Amino acid sequence: MRLLVTGGAGFIGSNFIHYVLKKYDDITLLNVDKLTYAANLASLADIQDDSRYTFIKLDITQTDDLRKLIDQYGITHIINFAAESHVDRSIEDASVFYHSNVQGVMSLLQILQKRPALRLLQVSTDEVYGDIPLAQCPVSESAPLAPSSPYAASKAAADLMVHAYCRTYDVNAVITDRQITMARIKTLKN
Ligand SMILES: NC(=O)c1ccc[n+]([C@@H]2O[C@H](COP(=O)([O-])OP(=O)(O)OC[C@H]3O[C@@H](n4cnc5c(N)ncnc54)[C@H](O)[C@@H]3O)[C@@H](O)[C@H]2O)c1
Repeated sequence: MRLLVTGGAGFIGSNFIHYVLKKYDDITLLNVDKLTYAANLASLADIQDDSRYTFIKLDITQTDDLRKLIDQYGITHIINFAAESHVDRSIEDASVFYHSNVQGVMSLLQILQKRPALRLLQVSTDEVYGDIPLAQCPVSESAPLAPSSPYAASKAAADLMVHAYCRTYDVNAVITDRQITMARIKTLKN
């Protein structure tokens, strides 16, 4: 597997990269990240000389550059962690959330549209379901989308675009959010 991890210099992405490189010998990994304020490349310093790992600084909305990298590295799978992720910042200025979280996913989907074998895992969030009363937990993936912040709305919009591209163009993509929801419920209960 040749894996593209987007947003791999962020909190979850960097931990995921460490996990993958430790657990699997046969995966090569390309990390593409715009390096916003949220990125921390130092957290990946210990693997920067690993021959299976490459880092490239790029905004995922730069579709042509991203497409070239995907072809150059023979990428077979993409996991999209790249996003603006802090709710409070989205309340101050939602535009950058629209840029990275919606246009960024559009960029990936446009690339997938012409590459039927390329598979995308879009990382979503439980926040697309809005405020979930504990008594109603766990919610299923078919629960109505009810985002209550610009951040959550941008992630829900991305989910809907992934759904639409799967249905309309038969792109090879899946969305994850339920497991994160379950983890959040466990945290709430403990
Ligand atoms: N942290 C959580 O509690 C949580 C919960 C549920 C879902 N998520 C989702 O998981 C994913 C990762 O979250 P995180 O907490 O690691 O976020 P983070 O903010 O720590 O990291 C995001 C990374 O994405 C990069 N990035 C942002 N815009 C980019 C762009 N246009 N092009 C390329 N790179 C870009 C940033 O530089 C950063 O390194 C996000 O999609 C988020 O919505 C996070």
